[in-house]
Amino acid sequence: MLRGKRIVLGISGGVAAYKAAYLARRLVEHGAELRTVMTVAATRFIGPQTLAAITGTPPVIGLFGVSSVSPHTEMGRWADAVVVAPATASTIARLAHGLSEDALCATVLATTAPVVVAPAMHTEMWEHPATRRNIARLHDDGTLVVGPDEGALAGGDEGPGRLVEPDVIVGALQRLLGPRDLEGRNVLVSAGGTREPIDPVRYIGNRSSGKMGNAIAVTAARRGATVFLVTSAEPPPEDDHIEVVRVETAVEMAETVWARASKCDVAVLAAAVADFRPGDPGAEKLRRADGVPEISLEPTPDILAGVAAMEDRPFLVGFAAETGTVEGALDKARTKGADLVVANDVARRGSGFGTDTNEVTLITPDGEREKWQLLPKHEVADRLWDRVASMLAAKEGSS
Ligand SMILES: Cc1cc2nc3c(=O)[nH]c(=O)nc-3n(C[C@H](O)[C@H](O)[C@H](O)COP(=O)(O)O)c2cc1C
Repeated sequence: MLRGKRIVLGISGGVAAYKAAYLARRLVEHGAELRTVMTVAATRFIGPQTLAAITGTPPVIGLFGVSSVSPHTEMGRWADAVVVAPATASTIARLAHGLSEDALCATVLATTAPVVVAPAMHTEMWEHPATRRNIARLHDDGTLVVGPDEGALAGGDEGPGRLVEPDVIVGALQRLLGPRDLEGRNVLVSAGGTREPIDPVRYIGNRSSGKMGNAIAVTAARRGATVFLVTSAEPPPEDDHIEVVRVETAVEMAETVWARASKCDVAVLAAAVADFRPGDPGAEKLRRADGVPEISLEPTPDILAGVAAMEDRPFLVGFAAETGTVEGALDKARTKGADLVVANDVARRGSGFGTDTNEVTLITPDGEREKWQLLPKHEVADRLWDRVASMLAAKEGSS
């Protein structure tokens, strides 16, 4: 969503400035073209060389004596968006009053692109009436203020004023600059691997981390969808557009998915659900002294087939974990009633469970296959939504 977008990252002088390096890296990973501008105070907290190394271009620090005749207007016109992170109380005050004595504030004043400000400061500074007034002014000017969070602050303090996580800022930029082709859509996503109890302590599980499902949920929200995420894994950071329901077993996942699916436009079932579960889990911990237990297994509900059989079913995408060939996924696509099956080779290095990348093959019910190269999971999610949005539009157009 940020590929090719031109973003100016402004960094002001607070302790959280060190996080700007990670934010810059994430923006570059998402394909953005990035330039940076720092206040003089920011250079006391993070080295300009670090940002130069990440972005490939030295940050602009002063307005005078630099290679550009007019760095602020040049960057302001170049930018598709300007983001100030972290934004100190002082920088916020200057922005609110249109003061342009430094390169960062001058760039914000000189742009017509959307501006995102992520404040970071001690709670007393954040709650001071002057800061409240300045933030209200920024809102009135159309600036998007992201955060701050509540939590650990510098010096062992705690409270509101903490810079939001860099990925939340990336998300805000994606919402601002990316496509909104899922606006008004209700989307259900399942993620993670189920755990089927053997006894109160042990379970049969699998290696799914939930990362692919999380990427699909987050990307859908950024493209305008209201997302219902059913997960047995760690969910993504809190997001107003994602409702999370935590489940553990295949039965819990089935009940939750089936209760919601017919109210959704799209369901993407990316969870790795156990096919079998212990039929009679022990009520108490099984003991070594009692000998090797016999564990008999019984089938779990087929969640995908259950959704496919619904009268008022959503557009349905199923994931299939494969080890080597995609024959199983091909069979799933032909027989299970899904509109699209995404096969991922979990045995391949860098693909599948727990990794940040994935190599998938898209399979349609008529057996057509399309293999994608190894990609970051957020990019797989984005491309998948490109495909689903266009298939959905075609389906609605023809009905
Ligand atoms: C150790 C230290 C940490 C600071 N952290 C913050 C901070 O997190 N937020 C803030 O608003 N100001 C913070 N300040 C104060 C700013 O550095 C100071 O107001 C500075 O003038 C800000 O300049 P700038 O907004 O041009 O970057 C800190 C100062 C020091 C000495």
